[in-house]
Amino acid sequence: MVKKRLGIGMIGAGFVANFHIRSFIGVRDADIIGVVSKDDDMSRNTADVIKKIGVGEPNIYNSVTEMVADPAIDALWICAPNFARIEVMEEIVDAIESGKGELIGVACEKPLGRNVQEAKKMLELAQRANLLDGYLENQCFSPAITRGKDIVWSRGAKLTGRPYLARAAEEHGGPHMPWFWEGKLQGGGVINDMMCHSVEAARFLLTPPGADRTVLKLKKVNAYANCLKWQNPKYAQQLADNSGGKLDYINRPAEDFGRSLVEYEDENGQQLVVETTTSWSYVGAGLRLSMELLGPEYSMSIDTLTTGLKVFFSRHVTGDTGEDLVEKQNAEVGLMPVVNNEEAEYGYEAENRHMVQSFLSGKRPEENFHDGVNVTELLMTGYLSAEEERTIAFPPPNLDTFIPAVAKGEWNPKNK
Ligand SMILES: NC(=O)c1ccc[n+]([C@@H]2O[C@H](COP(=O)([O-])OP(=O)(O)OC[C@H]3O[C@@H](n4cnc5c(N)ncnc54)[C@H](O)[C@@H]3O)[C@@H](O)[C@H]2O)c1
Repeated sequence: MVKKRLGIGMIGAGFVANFHIRSFIGVRDADIIGVVSKDDDMSRNTADVIKKIGVGEPNIYNSVTEMVADPAIDALWICAPNFARIEVMEEIVDAIESGKGELIGVACEKPLGRNVQEAKKMLELAQRANLLDGYLENQCFSPAITRGKDIVWSRGAKLTGRPYLARAAEEHGGPHMPWFWEGKLQGGGVINDMMCHSVEAARFLLTPPGADRTVLKLKKVNAYANCLKWQNPKYAQQLADNSGGKLDYINRPAEDFGRSLVEYEDENGQQLVVETTTSWSYVGAGLRLSMELLGPEYSMSIDTLTTGLKVFFSRHVTGDTGEDLVEKQNAEVGLMPVVNNEEAEYGYEAENRHMVQSFLSGKRPEENFHDGVNVTELLMTGYLSAEEERTIAFPPPNLDTFIPAVAKGEWNPKNK
């Protein structure tokens, strides 16, 4: 039977789940009808938001298994923390294999796994249960990126040659929850958390329109990692205070700054370069995403903080702090950029439209777990490069079992 509407279950009720939920205002043919998380208050609040903005009438479930067992649920969005990926996916697949329920697909937030072994396990589990799989890399769906790519390829590249250099950066002042900062739980520091976006957005920009993501062959990775801000005793203390003493950035930091230089080869043997920068040590108005695409006679650039809308508040406008102007906002006074519709601008809306329509038509999404594995392979090669301070030819031996020192709690740039 062909389905006309998709019943979605949300796994996780935190920051990103709420971003997805708000984006569904701009997504047709889907309703969010289930929520499960580890925190009852968060589940209730999230269910209230879903009802209030009119994107579904959700039930709150006690477990992932219970949600899979509801015949109205067709697909799950995995928005739980990185350390819960495998446990959540195993529960989904167990519920299906033991005949408790059926699903069309799963969509999973970035990163697909904390390391290559986990990312490959996610892919293997999805395939074992015959699920369509969507990798939620929102930046590949951001309107500025997709529109910029279309224009550059259909005019500049068509007439003068393909783009050869993509730059991408994502920077802010640091994540909102302590688990992101803990290498073991998250899988690394800012490289795993945010460079995953930049490398995939850059690969997308360099890939010819309509071509498979794998058309570019990864050849070499050179990366650098450091902890520039948060190992400073004053800031390390802030992290310790905000985490009930769990985070110890003096002795067990994660990188808050990373760079990578990645070499690809296209189908004609042409060398292409990706340059990425990422940091949790950027203090500006808020989250800044920037990208560039360069070719023989053209260039394109994006900076999400260069907005059309700005507001100015004098020093006499005092009040609560918040993120009402831009994600990861750092100030409330002065001249401030406003991102009008973050869910759309950052790509969540188009991403969810694509996932919903792919699942309804029985097609594998264009951005899928295979891409999630590729991203993790690249990032792990980057960690290896940063640890060994050398360029690494891809694939390095033993990549599948490589765990970065930062994810073992053994990395400290002060000991280098
Ligand atoms: N695309 C993006 O730009 C973006 C932005 C932020 C986060 N993320 C990703 O989304 C995921 C969630 O991040 P967040 O910021 O929402 O985290 P969060 O800590 O704000 O929320 C996590 C939610 O998951 C729930 N949870 C924890 N363990 C669970 C389990 N075993 N089963 C079900 N629910 C569980 C928690 O109760 C909470 O509701 C992470 O993997 C993160 O990397 C992506």
